Amino acid sequence: QTIYLKDYAPSPYLIERVELDVRFEESETRVRALLTILPNRDTEPGTPLVLDGDELTLDTIAIDGLPLVLSAYAATPDALTLMEPPHRRFVLETEVRLTPETNTRLMGLYRSNGVWCTQCEPEGFRRITYFLDRPDILSTYKVTMTADRALAPILLSNGNPSGGGDAGDGRHYAVWEDPFPKPAYLFALVAGDLAAIHDSFTTASGRKVALAIYCEHGKQEQCAYAMDALKRSMAWDERRFGLEYDLDVFNIVAVSDFNFGAMENKGLNIFNDKLVFARPETATDVDYAGIESVIAHEYFHNWTGNRITCRDWFQLCLKEGLTVYRDQEFTMDERSRPVARIEDVRKLRATQFPEDGGPLAHPARPDNYREINNFYTATVYEKGAEIVRMLATLLGEAGFRKGMDLYFERHDGDATTIEAFIAVFAEASGRDLSQFEQWYLQAGTPDLEVGETWDEATRRYSLSFRQRTRPTPGQPEKAPMVIPVRFGLVGPNGSDMGWSGVSGGRVESDLIVLEDGETTITFEGVASRPVPSLLRGFSAPVNLTSSLGQAEKLFLARHDADPFNRWQALQDVAMKLIIDAVDGAALSTADADAFTDALVETLGAEGLDDAFKAHALTLPAETDIARIIGKSVDPDAIHAARQSLIAAISERAGHALGEAYDARSADTPYSPGAAEAGRRALRNTVLGLLVRGGAPGAAARATTQYHEAGNMTDRLAALSSAVAAWTGDAQALLEDFRTHHTADPLVYDKWLAANAIAPHGGTLERLRAILADPDFPRNNPNRLRALVGSFANANPTQFGRADGAGFRFVTDFVADVDRRNPNVAARVLTAFRVWRTYEPGRREAAERALRGLAEAGGLSRNTADILARTLDTA
Ligand code: ARG
Ligand code: ZN
Repeated sequence: QTIYLKDYAPSPYLIERVELDVRFEESETRVRALLTILPNRDTEPGTPLVLDGDELTLDTIAIDGLPLVLSAYAATPDALTLMEPPHRRFVLETEVRLTPETNTRLMGLYRSNGVWCTQCEPEGFRRITYFLDRPDILSTYKVTMTADRALAPILLSNGNPSGGGDAGDGRHYAVWEDPFPKPAYLFALVAGDLAAIHDSFTTASGRKVALAIYCEHGKQEQCAYAMDALKRSMAWDERRFGLEYDLDVFNIVAVSDFNFGAMENKGLNIFNDKLVFARPETATDVDYAGIESVIAHEYFHNWTGNRITCRDWFQLCLKEGLTVYRDQEFTMDERSRPVARIEDVRKLRATQFPEDGGPLAHPARPDNYREINNFYTATVYEKGAEIVRMLATLLGEAGFRKGMDLYFERHDGDATTIEAFIAVFAEASGRDLSQFEQWYLQAGTPDLEVGETWDEATRRYSLSFRQRTRPTPGQPEKAPMVIPVRFGLVGPNGSDMGWSGVSGGRVESDLIVLEDGETTITFEGVASRPVPSLLRGFSAPVNLTSSLGQAEKLFLARHDADPFNRWQALQDVAMKLIIDAVDGAALSTADADAFTDALVETLGAEGLDDAFKAHALTLPAETDIARIIGKSVDPDAIHAARQSLIAAISERAGHALGEAYDARSADTPYSPGAAEAGRRALRNTVLGLLVRGGAPGAAARATTQYHEAGNMTDRLAALSSAVAAWTGDAQALLEDFRTHHTADPLVYDKWLAANAIAPHGGTLERLRAILADPDFPRNNPNRLRALVGSFANANPTQFGRADGAGFRFVTDFVADVDRRNPNVAARVLTAFRVWRTYEPGRREAAERALRGLAEAGGLSRNTADILARTLDTA
């Protein structure tokens, strides 16, 4: 059954206040709810009230204290209907009984490691009590929790603590009050035997906030970095957006079984523990950066998501796109702006672009869905952030801030829409943003082609742009988009050139704003032929193709004032060399020399940080190459072509690379800061090139680094390069890691992923053996994703095996896990979104695996929806 945005109507009833009484027992939990309900304006007397449920059983029901007669209501596991509710404010009292112990879906109330916890977004609250479970129902909550004191000394919910005490029989209780009206998806509670670290933060206006991070006993020291990131996030939101925290406490809880990354429940963020725990011996630099950014993301939701929430789930991007933009900006301010931008764009291209170009493409604001859980996508999150970034680019920093200020002023306390969000920016800037709004409405990545002409006699230089967006499911015709192109005209000496006049389009200093399908912009008074540097900082999420040759790209790689485009130029050059090789052209000595020279020059350049250099030395990923090739993809050919370029580089630059490696081998104590992390990233990228390029002694160097590493970043990098190159030591290193480093479950995940990404014919057998082990934790999302998610998304040659065994392995896994956890199963299945781009043999094999899954039947709504859209049978 499909839900359409056009059918949105306000709820006939509102719920003003929620009082929950939750009693935890060893094997069941009772939830008594007192809901203060009133008819909405315009609701006719006698309109039935239908509350949502999901696998609920009703024990008792009363209105204003009087039990209801059987004919007055109907209760099923997924709905509670009051035939003729009072036409006034009334209190509905219900009681249900839950078994969180058997809740393997990890939605609603469940138990992780003995700890009771919740995940309600988007529709989990209805698994806890009958409710109007939609985000435009805002209520204040009072929550009373009662549990055995020994089993659950810690009792947490949203808002501020407001009492508690002894409940007799070894039990105790706690009361929490949240004064801010909120939708049910932001509800949370946690009860268990947890340790904690405590800190505090004083807001700009002097509110002293008690901060705590709760975790499993013994893991407290591993929460210190997350706490530091939280305090920096709180300070940043005050500085950058004038936004302060609004409760007396802010709690974070780390749990080990969690379907997603983390959740922004009001005053009580719940986190997947892999995004909290960090110490040098077990977490990599990438893990530290991920923790910092997700801690910030969830904290920033307090304003963009909680104080201002979504009217309906079609508006998900209102809170997610904007909050990702905010966490990206935080990372840029805390670390290096260009490096963060490169990382964000790499992620966008790796996750969102393939989604936008395949059968699962959808607008950032979809207009229909069958299962909302399937719309927590790279499009809603990452493309959503790009849309906000374009808005900031078009309006300028001050104009954007003015719009944000107006957004908070106008909509604080609202459940609102993307339309309303755009409207405040239009109002604050006086601009017409109606065409810009298409970015939310139209799916697909625009292709932007550019050509240039230069006339020496008239000193006229023109750029001609043509944009086109290919059809996506349900959207055969596409309108032209507003595309902000930040640019410079780079002169022969490497600096940006000026011009004396412009015609043919909108040019605002270093920004070209495209609005039409075709635009030609002419610059007057251009002294010599420039090399155009376009889309600086990746100012719009489009696929740019230009007529620039390899030599001009290499010129930009050396001279562009925009570091992002220096990186992009090197990527483009590598991409062309690899694709030519896939097409059968041998890599010429001249091309290999020219490219290697540019890399070596970048490696030695002054004024570029190591983290930037590490990205510059990283060739486009095999999946990215496949995306650019776009059809008849043969992952083995791509792997071989990329591999031969790596070999050519390592052969030519072995000496310089070796020196760069040695120069960064300083044995300073580990610190997770950006500069130190950059140093390690460059050193490990160099190691990877040398090992994969088969440089003499490189495999031994990896083995040595593996054994001598003082931190997980260096150890895992050494292991990964050995595995990626499948050196003689790879197998032994995997065994060693298994034996010595996997007592910690989060490190065990790294071992699982290392096995999963080996580009080696024996990989599938290893994975089957790991999964078949009766001790394998088959219900933990992190373990499952580390093993099978990594295989499907990061091992293109083995997932895409010509014999189809990789595809079948994944569909068999999906069928099995789907019975226990539909969210995990459906997410893994999205790896098939590229299936139609394979060459015919693999395409048929993938289709056979998918059809087999469909024919077996019995799938959850989540998985059935992804499958139907992937096969285009929806
Ligand atoms: N709102 C959470 C966040 O952005 C994620 C919730 C994920 N829920 C889901 N159904 N995928 O951090
Ligand atoms: Zn979010």
